[in-house]
Amino acid sequence: MSSQWVYEIRDLDLDNPSCLVNETIFHNANGYIGVRSNFEEGYPENYDTIRGSYINGFYDIAKMPQAEKLCGLIEEKQTMLNVADPQTIRLKINGEVFSMFEGTVEESSRSLDMARGITGRRVVWTSTKGHKIQVLVRRMTSFKLLPLFTIEYEIRALNFSGDLCFISEHNGDVRNYCNPNDPRVAGESFVHLKGRMMETPAPGESMMVMDTVSSRLSVCTYVKNICSVPAKMTCHANDYHVSWEIGTSIQQGQTVTLTKYTIYTDSVRYKDCCAGARRAMEEALSVPLQQWYDWQKDYLDVFWNQSALDIEGDDDLALAVRYNLYQLIQSAGRDKYGNMAAKGLSGEGYEGHYFWDTEMYMQPFFTLTNPDISRNLIDFRYEILDAARENARILGHKKGALYPWRTISGKECSGYFPSGSAQYHIDGDIAYAVVAYYLATLDFDYIAQKGAEIVFETARLWMDAGNFHKGRFLINAVTGPDEYTCIVNNNYYTNACAQYNLHWAVRFWELLEEAGQLAPVAEKIGLTREEILGFEQAEKAMYLPYDEELGINPQDDSFLQKEKWDIANTPKDHFPLLLHYHPLYIYRFQVCKQADTVLAHFIFEDAQDLETIRRSFAYYETVTTHDSSLSTCIYSIVASKLGEREKAYQYFGDSAKLDLFNLHHNTKDGIHTANMGGNYMAVVYGFGGLRLKEDGLHLAPYLPGPWKAYTFKVHYRGRNIKVCVDENKTTVLLESGDAVPLWIYGKETVLENTLEFSAQQ
Ligand code: BGC
Repeated sequence: MSSQWVYEIRDLDLDNPSCLVNETIFHNANGYIGVRSNFEEGYPENYDTIRGSYINGFYDIAKMPQAEKLCGLIEEKQTMLNVADPQTIRLKINGEVFSMFEGTVEESSRSLDMARGITGRRVVWTSTKGHKIQVLVRRMTSFKLLPLFTIEYEIRALNFSGDLCFISEHNGDVRNYCNPNDPRVAGESFVHLKGRMMETPAPGESMMVMDTVSSRLSVCTYVKNICSVPAKMTCHANDYHVSWEIGTSIQQGQTVTLTKYTIYTDSVRYKDCCAGARRAMEEALSVPLQQWYDWQKDYLDVFWNQSALDIEGDDDLALAVRYNLYQLIQSAGRDKYGNMAAKGLSGEGYEGHYFWDTEMYMQPFFTLTNPDISRNLIDFRYEILDAARENARILGHKKGALYPWRTISGKECSGYFPSGSAQYHIDGDIAYAVVAYYLATLDFDYIAQKGAEIVFETARLWMDAGNFHKGRFLINAVTGPDEYTCIVNNNYYTNACAQYNLHWAVRFWELLEEAGQLAPVAEKIGLTREEILGFEQAEKAMYLPYDEELGINPQDDSFLQKEKWDIANTPKDHFPLLLHYHPLYIYRFQVCKQADTVLAHFIFEDAQDLETIRRSFAYYETVTTHDSSLSTCIYSIVASKLGEREKAYQYFGDSAKLDLFNLHHNTKDGIHTANMGGNYMAVVYGFGGLRLKEDGLHLAPYLPGPWKAYTFKVHYRGRNIKVCVDENKTTVLLESGDAVPLWIYGKETVLENTLEFSAQQ
């Protein structure tokens, strides 16, 4: 790692696993398109590579036959497609082919510049015959012109003059990656795209339109190659594979650059994706590439200024945290058609599906720093609300909406319902995110237009999924966040989420009524005062399991009756358990894949006293494997809350470098975006003690031992607030906006300008 802004690896390991991980780590994305960072010239034939470009929300439908045709089981799924590949640039110097795996690699590095939004690759290479070149590659997916991806491929002849030839390809004959032995990626790979149109409108150009086989969508890719010196261009094109041979000569010491522009458009967003691609290409070429680089930097200047999270005292960790935040801005959808996949746009793990990861792990970052993006993410959920209503009917519910556990455009895509569709908490998670957006922005118009409808419909679902029994409201046969414990009664987390959801349905009803804005939504969905009274009763009667003997909240009704899994004596190579044990076997033990009740104790901390939270935390620590990347960040936050600072720092460290160090051994399939958002939360909610509550914003920062200082910013109700914590004091600064009441270290106060607190809080 080099500076605070540039993540760099030198002397690249060229073994196959390292190459695969780097394809992910250095991918370029902008919320709309994502391109893995494959070597332009390719790999040896026996190498496994995931060569991919993806469009957020662009998918085909794949069959997912169930062996036993039970009622309502899902038999098809949406799967994010790998679309036409524009990455390939092969290089010949004096007839010799450049390859990292032949000749001699003298120097090599890859980098990601997070201030500029550009990835780089530098190689100094000597061919078998002794020709020495420097290859410099810069790649960018533009934040300003979302369909644009550029590769600038620069060659410098270091010790010879001679022939130079680029072979630049545009390949529509692509498939998705698969691994039949890993449930976290697709098991089979089919051809999902059929070519409809291919043309080479001008020298160095190619355009292709491909249609999906089942979802009736189309994608256009338009490529243009521009050489910095006069060159002869020869085209070879067949079967949706275009190859431009670009021949020229190079003198010793001279630099020749091939600039390759690619535009991606799709029929989800464009009526005519070819026309859209032509327009975007024209726009891309209307200014020099440097201008696009400048705009990229401008965009990121604003982003970092709003989202700054600066750490002093541990440069490596500071860089890792910045890397995580950068991945969040690369991954978040910018319109209502695309959300934020579990792997962002970096790979094919989980097939590009959106999960609860968005609302509970990634969205909090945007809610606090970039509320427009947060609102977009809710727009997406609003857009698929009808599909969620339909999903609820499939599962037998007469009322309400049940969001799919995993989806791209709204339909449930989970093939294994015990740890998929049964995770009803996703409804509460989405409602929670809507409320958080409201609490952070007070954007009541949005609530009136869209947000409240989501909260009402999810609240209705709880009324249908749960029932009153002996004065308590119970929710049976659901799965909580912990996927090692499935189909249980009264999962603590789920019930707490449902309670919050019901509470806010009632609150939004009241607020809308007061504002005279209730009628449109209530009439639209036929919501009555009687229903609201029912919500209120269920909220009050909600059963939250508590074990008197242990003084903890059991994860569900049967959790504590089970034998504890012997985590300490399980062979290290048997983790994650899901890859080594039959699910049913795992379900019979007290063993958690991830934070579950502990997550509830963070999110709904006021539902229990501190000692219950403390005992529960200690208990769940002994039964949690953290096999999911969504876990350690949450343990870090709760450890902070409990004052267990060393532990908090350790859990935080595990989460910070999870992808950079490939700690879960599957970074090749894509980044773990939820963990990245969780890592942000571990700082801001954990060390910073931030909470968004009905009574306002709470802060209670402390300085983790190894750090000298840290700073973060929050956009709260139209104000920009900066929090700086160092060894001596905590400073809370109102950077812009009117004075605002806040809770700091548990005391209500008004932030007018600057507030200072001594470090000993
Ligand atoms: C976790 C889920 C998560 C999914 C996608 C699973 O391993 O258990 O909580 O939603 O990954 O990230």
